[in-house]
Amino acid sequence: MVHITRRHFLASSAAAAFLPAAGFAVSAQEPGWVELTARQFDKSIPGGDAQPSTLWGYDGQNPGPTLRVKQGETLRIRFKNELPEPTSIHWHGIRLQNAMDGVSGLTQDPVPPGGTFDYTFQPPDAGTYWYHAHHESWKQVAMGLYGTLIVEEPEPAFAPEADIVLMLDDWRLDRQGRLDVSSLGQMMDWSHGGRLGNYLTVNGQAQPRYQIPRGSWIRLRLINACNSRILEIDPNRFGARVIAYDGQALNQPVKLDYTPHLLGPAQRVDVLVKYDDARPVELQELSGQPYTFATLDVVDSGQGGGGEPQLPANILPEPDLENAKEFELLMEGGAMGQMGQLIYNGRVQSRMDFMANKQVWGFNGVANMADDPFFSVARGQNVIVNVINRTSFMHAMHIHGHHFKILERNGEPDAEQAWRDTFLVGPDGTTKIAFVADNPGKWLFHCHMLEHAAAGMTTWFEVA
Ligand code: C2O
Ligand code: CU
Repeated sequence: MVHITRRHFLASSAAAAFLPAAGFAVSAQEPGWVELTARQFDKSIPGGDAQPSTLWGYDGQNPGPTLRVKQGETLRIRFKNELPEPTSIHWHGIRLQNAMDGVSGLTQDPVPPGGTFDYTFQPPDAGTYWYHAHHESWKQVAMGLYGTLIVEEPEPAFAPEADIVLMLDDWRLDRQGRLDVSSLGQMMDWSHGGRLGNYLTVNGQAQPRYQIPRGSWIRLRLINACNSRILEIDPNRFGARVIAYDGQALNQPVKLDYTPHLLGPAQRVDVLVKYDDARPVELQELSGQPYTFATLDVVDSGQGGGGEPQLPANILPEPDLENAKEFELLMEGGAMGQMGQLIYNGRVQSRMDFMANKQVWGFNGVANMADDPFFSVARGQNVIVNVINRTSFMHAMHIHGHHFKILERNGEPDAEQAWRDTFLVGPDGTTKIAFVADNPGKWLFHCHMLEHAAAGMTTWFEVA
């Protein structure tokens, strides 16, 4: 017989307030703490009788458990590393304090095998985010170390059955249908468009089906967890309008007039749909032959109706362009590109070093984490960064700890003026972004094509 005391009751209701949805592993001893363990597990990626692969996952799943927290409330994660290698977790897109950013070698030491690390933070912005390994990410993310992080609006705008996460990943499978680990780290991928897979999964499954209520407004949260693939999705094909980019709600739903939409690695797009018909809806990826990655089965639920939901916008500091400091980031290198001198670890690389170090891309002539930051500014400084891509590839540039506005693309003012944490810049293109550097600490600025990041496209800046 277990006696429930008032003490227990308070503790568990506090936990419930932090953790509104199922899918959490909450330690009974420490209310409010979520336990998350990285470990190896076996799973057949195509499912059925196909050979299992040994993957790495949070809580032995792919994707890891979906974490949910209410905007402004504290998420407390007790992370344990049961992998054979060190690792760390980055909370992508969350404007959190620097010490919790999870960048091994910059904001923390990697967590050794058998080690633990406590991550606690209060996400200031509602929306769709994700978490992933940030230690040798090119390998660890490809092995499966990622999951969804949802920061809920104070008043939920969608019922749970009308709120669907679609986390996409492309795996490179061998002929037996197993994850091809022998090609991890291949120079060909690092110097070209990154590691591209040949098998697409959604929430870890091939071509899943989801039931959604007929006649109800539905939120689909698309997340690109691919190492390097730019997904092509046309929301108009399935009657969807965009309601958020990279977690940040737009003022109103937008019907795209250019399609397909390019969803770069790490980017998210939330879309709004409503189907009055019971016909199944196929969601397709269009970068090659159109491929149905998921199907929505529209079912009668006796619910539905209701007005069009409105997502409240997060409050972000508007950059003051008049008083901004401007910096230029020149992206060079890679296959079919030009590269002058490339400095790595403080010295000019020779042809020989090239192959040994696998550094083939540079930011302002430096590969991978110069000793000095790209820029250092006082807290609250308005910053404009002009990114000039002199390579033959498109890149997905990500800034840690901040969201920014895109001012111009290729010299033309950007019409959307949406907040983002990751942007695509095309070959020989330019993009000008602006933000208020209001979050103190050392922050990464890198290409989220994880092979590019590892092969040189990583720098950092400092907010003092
Ligand atoms: Cu999604 Cu540097 O990270
Ligand atoms: Cu890149």
